[in-house]
Amino acid sequence: MLAAFLPLALSTYRFKKDSSVKKSLKVFVKTYGCQMNERDSEMISSQLQRAGHELIDNEKVADVVILNTCSVREQAEIKALGKAGYLVRRKRTNPNFKIGIVGCMAENLGEKLFKLNGVIDFVIGPKRLHELANILEGNRKNLSIGNPKRQPLSHDFDRKLETNKCTAFLSIMHGCNMRCSYCVVPRTRGNEQYRPMEDIVEEAKFLAENGIKEITLLGQIVNNYGGRLMPVINGKTPFVQLLERLDILPGIKRIRYMSPHPKNFSDDLILAHKTLSKLCPSVHLPIQSGSNRILVAMRRPYTAERILTIVKKLRRVVPNVGISTDIIVGYPGETEEDFAETVSLFDTAKFNMAFIFKYSPREGTRSAELVDDVEESEKERRNQILLQRVQEASLYYHQRFLGKTEEVLVEGHARRGTDTMFGWTPNHCKVLFKASENDIGKILSIQIDGSTTTILSGTIAENA
Ligand code: SAH
Ligand code: SF4
Ligand code: F3S
Repeated sequence: MLAAFLPLALSTYRFKKDSSVKKSLKVFVKTYGCQMNERDSEMISSQLQRAGHELIDNEKVADVVILNTCSVREQAEIKALGKAGYLVRRKRTNPNFKIGIVGCMAENLGEKLFKLNGVIDFVIGPKRLHELANILEGNRKNLSIGNPKRQPLSHDFDRKLETNKCTAFLSIMHGCNMRCSYCVVPRTRGNEQYRPMEDIVEEAKFLAENGIKEITLLGQIVNNYGGRLMPVINGKTPFVQLLERLDILPGIKRIRYMSPHPKNFSDDLILAHKTLSKLCPSVHLPIQSGSNRILVAMRRPYTAERILTIVKKLRRVVPNVGISTDIIVGYPGETEEDFAETVSLFDTAKFNMAFIFKYSPREGTRSAELVDDVEESEKERRNQILLQRVQEASLYYHQRFLGKTEEVLVEGHARRGTDTMFGWTPNHCKVLFKASENDIGKILSIQIDGSTTTILSGTIAENA
């Protein structure tokens, strides 16, 4: 498999101008949504550059603006639609200016986007992004959603690395086979598809050879990698087998993954946090609710008790492990008692960070058929209660690092033009400190002397 694939893959790494391009265009890509969209935006940027176009940072001088969109909550769609509406003015003064909507909202709303906004030029779903450069060549309105006839393997590899970048996202799979009642993602990204392990390892090697120190493996249920299609070997799931292969790659110093599902949080993965030296002591474990009744309604196949077991086992293996979560408040029928159970689970599990979302009904999902019966003001009240808890928990977690020396991967300038740099600890705490541009990509020992709810600060340790 690899032998046939490699030459193709390598050629996509190199910036190779395609002389067949009719006209080189200045393209601006704006990304909404999750890390997968960020990675998709990198892929499309690389694809367009190879086709001879110029990717620019200044939206105002762009010939083409591409909005890579998200549909997970109504607000995410409103934001992108607002932006598209705003861009329409540019079309009036420059008829050659093009607006494209790609990504999850493109898949979700499809043809409707042409009707909502008469001046959209193309709409491309996440599974058809490899068609973008060709579509840009044409002059007709283009709708490309649904499953492609053939997904070129090289597409996943497509990336052009920026200089001074030391972290990278690496998609290991696409789509999701779960059908959580509230979630639009299976509709926008389709069923699970796993990239071959060899290809992922090759891509990680390429990243390491090009200065990347930290990789974050991406998947909607990243720990379901391989599903039933790849075998469990010696009690190790395909995801853990992959982690083991990545852990021995020279150059890669840190490995993270996003997002695991509690249902697949098997003991071999917990143990991997002890045995694999590069696997970071930080886990994002989305619970959504602490009420078993609501979890059943959401079609999330675990209980609050199971979450506590995972957390307990993880802490036994990695004492200071950072554990963050996602919570939805105001799901249809969520009572005060249900909410109290969520708060209680948040407290008992001692999560140190959480993203709190107010339930947003999404057309086409199961829960959209239910009455959205928790008032907006009540959703907001529950949101605020949890946000307060999150702040306290985050400060409490941060304070344990005061006076300690932490290994920080330097990522860049915290403020442009200053010597205040930022980086992350293995536990995924952000740190500010004074250092130089030359330190980007290095792991420095930082003596932590300050902490707030959101950030740590410190100085380079004397003996570093
Ligand atoms: N695959 C991940 C979640 C991806 S979506 C998982 O299963 O954990 C990211 C987060 O958005 C979810 O964890 C959930 O908390 C939130 N979310 C998804 N659909 C939502 C909706 N309809 N309303 C509010 N929040 C939602
Ligand atoms: Fe959505 Fe559930 Fe799949 Fe996560 S696991 S992407 S919440 S359907
Ligand atoms: Fe991500 Fe939003 Fe799509 S969360 S998968 S960009 S719907």
